[in-house]
Amino acid sequence: MKLAVIGAGYVGLVTGIGFASLGHEITFVDVDAKKVEMIEKAEPPLYEKGLKELMKNLSSYRATTEFKAIKNSEIVFVCVGTPFKDGKMDLSQLESSALEISKYLSKQIVVLRSTVLPGTTENLIPIFEKYGKKAFADFGVAYNPEFLREGNALQDFFNPDRIVIGAEDERSKKILSELYKDFNCPKIFTNIKTAEIIKLVANAFLSTKISFANEIGNVCKKLGIDCYEVFEAVGLDHRISPHFFKAGLGFGGSCLPKDLKALISKAVEVGEEPRILKAVLEVNESQPLRMIEILKKHLGSLEGKKIGVLGLAFKPETDDVRDARSMVVVSKLLEEGAEIVAYDPKAMENFRKIFPNIEYRKSALEVIEGAEAILIVTEWTEFEGVDCKGKLLVDGRRVKVKNAKYEGVCW
Ligand code: UGA
Repeated sequence: MKLAVIGAGYVGLVTGIGFASLGHEITFVDVDAKKVEMIEKAEPPLYEKGLKELMKNLSSYRATTEFKAIKNSEIVFVCVGTPFKDGKMDLSQLESSALEISKYLSKQIVVLRSTVLPGTTENLIPIFEKYGKKAFADFGVAYNPEFLREGNALQDFFNPDRIVIGAEDERSKKILSELYKDFNCPKIFTNIKTAEIIKLVANAFLSTKISFANEIGNVCKKLGIDCYEVFEAVGLDHRISPHFFKAGLGFGGSCLPKDLKALISKAVEVGEEPRILKAVLEVNESQPLRMIEILKKHLGSLEGKKIGVLGLAFKPETDDVRDARSMVVVSKLLEEGAEIVAYDPKAMENFRKIFPNIEYRKSALEVIEGAEAILIVTEWTEFEGVDCKGKLLVDGRRVKVKNAKYEGVCW
């Protein structure tokens, strides 16, 4: 099939390149000319495991800044960002894309894949219809959430747990069923707003598991109990599952924190008090600060002390630092007057744009050598077994290191 993908960020690129490798013809449309140029040269504009190799080996995709390129597509996936700004989800990128798309609509199926609040896709219909074509009659509209984890996004694309298709007209359902026919997993067909909230609820539940693990971890630490042992046993109950129980610094990234905040704001808007969701967020905000408290317990004031930070990405295998727990940790350290030396295998360039004035090193060992105490903020595998030279190490991610005066954040 001929597919257009609007927005070549993580979701758009992985979706497009994923479908290209299944034999479809892809046109990426992005307003960022630099990104377009890189994709045209088969260079991924972001780091994602396996993406570079796939892009090099495929020729069935192209990229442009021109929306008119969607004219001959059967499906137009919309994958632009929906950041959380000023207390609500910012839909400006979606709205401006919808307006551009509307100029070239004939009988395509427009499929939103950006994470949105229920009702958003339907609210865009008047924009899509601006030039006289009718939704569900001339062109189709659907919502198809993604459940891709950064760092595992391609693997998740090819092996999904489920595919959710929110579609209300028969033609959209038929064409999307055809597109996904070779995927061997449950396929759930719903109306559009149900599909929209399924994505938010999935992320909210994952966030809840993490904050729950952190709260229990904090209690277990005080009781001298290892929460990792606890969750290993608890997770064996098939109703619970062992995943997303890794206690530590909490969740960051471009999805879980903002989707949770958006769901909270929607709940409040409809007159509900989302007590659980609010608590999940509260635990997540205070958890990284525990690291600094442990540090102060050992070192006293942090004024003028050199603290090493290992890991800046919001999780391993990505260069993404959006809402990373490292931001909270580094900001607090700076506020306490500490000097910082940091290392991350992939995310230093992105982190430097926000914190240009801290020191960056080329390896974990260089950080350890130059610091009085060390914090592990992201669990990159290369930190495993690293020699800490007998120094104080506060671990936020349960990494096995050597020769450290060791304390875990909640174990
Ligand atoms: C998340 C969801 O996992 C995907 O299913 C979803 O598609 C995606 O958001 C999205 O909405 O697009 P992602 O943000 O890539 O994916 O990252 P996760 O693997 O979920 O990790 C998020 C954060 O939680 C990381 O900071 C990680 O360190 C933290 N985490 C994760 C924990 O602290 N403990 C855990 O047990 C698991």
